[in-house]
Amino acid sequence: MKIAVIGTGYVGLVTGTCLADSGNNVICVDIDRAKVERLNRGEIIIYEPGLNELVERNMSAGRLQFTTDLQAAVQKAKLVFLAVGTPPTDDGSADLSSLWKVVDSVAPFLPADAVVITKSTVPVGTNAAITARLKERTGRNCDVASNPEFLKEGAAIEDFTKPDRVVVGVRRQEVADVLHTLYMPFLRTENPFLVMSPESAEMTKYVANALLSTKISFINEVANLCERMEADIDDVRRGIGHDSRIGFAFLFPGAGYGGSCFPKDVRALSAMARKHGIEPQILDAVHEVNERQKTLLGKRIAAYFKGDLKGRTIAIWGLAFKPKTDDIREAPALVLIDHLLELGATVQVHDPEAMDNVRASYGDRLKYAEQPMDALQNADALAIVTEWGEFRQPDFDQMKQLLKSPVIFDGRNLYNPVQMKAAGFTYHCVGKKAVRPT
Ligand SMILES: NC(=O)c1ccc[n+]([C@@H]2O[C@H](COP(=O)([O-])OP(=O)(O)OC[C@H]3O[C@@H](n4cnc5c(N)ncnc54)[C@H](O)[C@@H]3O)[C@@H](O)[C@H]2O)c1
Repeated sequence: MKIAVIGTGYVGLVTGTCLADSGNNVICVDIDRAKVERLNRGEIIIYEPGLNELVERNMSAGRLQFTTDLQAAVQKAKLVFLAVGTPPTDDGSADLSSLWKVVDSVAPFLPADAVVITKSTVPVGTNAAITARLKERTGRNCDVASNPEFLKEGAAIEDFTKPDRVVVGVRRQEVADVLHTLYMPFLRTENPFLVMSPESAEMTKYVANALLSTKISFINEVANLCERMEADIDDVRRGIGHDSRIGFAFLFPGAGYGGSCFPKDVRALSAMARKHGIEPQILDAVHEVNERQKTLLGKRIAAYFKGDLKGRTIAIWGLAFKPKTDDIREAPALVLIDHLLELGATVQVHDPEAMDNVRASYGDRLKYAEQPMDALQNADALAIVTEWGEFRQPDFDQMKQLLKSPVIFDGRNLYNPVQMKAAGFTYHCVGKKAVRPT
């Protein structure tokens, strides 16, 4: 099939590349000329495991192209995916300005039999609004499908090519059939292809992200309580997780969730509820608990040093909002960095992939360490914010030698407190009592 993907960010690039890899002809469009030029030089603009090789293979096979020329891409396409960003506005509702710009630019060139497919996460009712807008611009009834994307950054290729399910919202069965054919190569293990109304599909995406965020905020709130009451959150997790009604997924306590999706989608769903006269009490609490959780490490470090961080150096391991990505949007590490800088600390950071993105915002206000151990040089304490694999089993003896004092604030519960105490560390984690060497 001939496919145009408009918006070549995380979702557009992964979608376009995976669809090219299953034999389709894909043209990815972006307004960001520099991004398109880099992609055409074979430079992958984001870090995503496996993406480099896949882009290279499909570009050399001639199935994947990158352009800023929307007209050329759309006029030959049978399927036009919309994958532009839908960031939050001040009141939390989704900003659809990029989407409308794209819809208006696509309309004059859209072939009569083409299907427009929304991959961006958009408020319920957007499919109907796009359909109406295209009718206004083209004079025809155009097919518009909703096809929310559930990929996780860091495992995006795996998620796209082996999805737990594919959700499509359509108004005509024929459109569902076209999309079923498109997704068939990825559904060979019989994972479901779920057809529903566009409104239900749009809602499904928000509900999925809101529920996952709810689980995280819930366990974080309970973890904070465990600390005060001398219970251990890991024991409690084990105690509840074996209950098949509860399970273990997404019930890890930590320094809060970030990324471009959970925070904005929770707020957007709240905004939708409010617009329809429903007070979204749970959703608001999920957001507020998370905002508070992101300040946990900063407050804890400030309290440990009695509020005075002037002349102190704090090392941070992990800047990306989660491992295996370079994405720092809404990352808890940024909240910690701001807090520490405000208190006058020198901050030495390390992340395997996200340092360039952080450098672009913070410049020389931070010290950047190429290796995790380099960040510890002369630091008064280490804070861990992202659970990258390489932080899980470090050389603790070397850490103790490098740190000025062996103090760790672990926002991801990577280590065993009993072992840390025995190894001579003061170790704070989330949801259990801090330990000090005897
Ligand atoms: N990132 C994720 O993990 C993820 C997962 C599922 C769904 N989503 C949703 O997918 C959508 C896209 O997210 P993303 O993370 O890929 O965003 P992104 O910001 O990484 O990418 C958006 C791209 O669209 C381009 N763009 C903006 N206006 C354009 C225009 N007029 N014409 C052409 N290109 C234009 C931008 O230059 C950018 O490259 C959002 O709605 C998001 O909520 C994201």
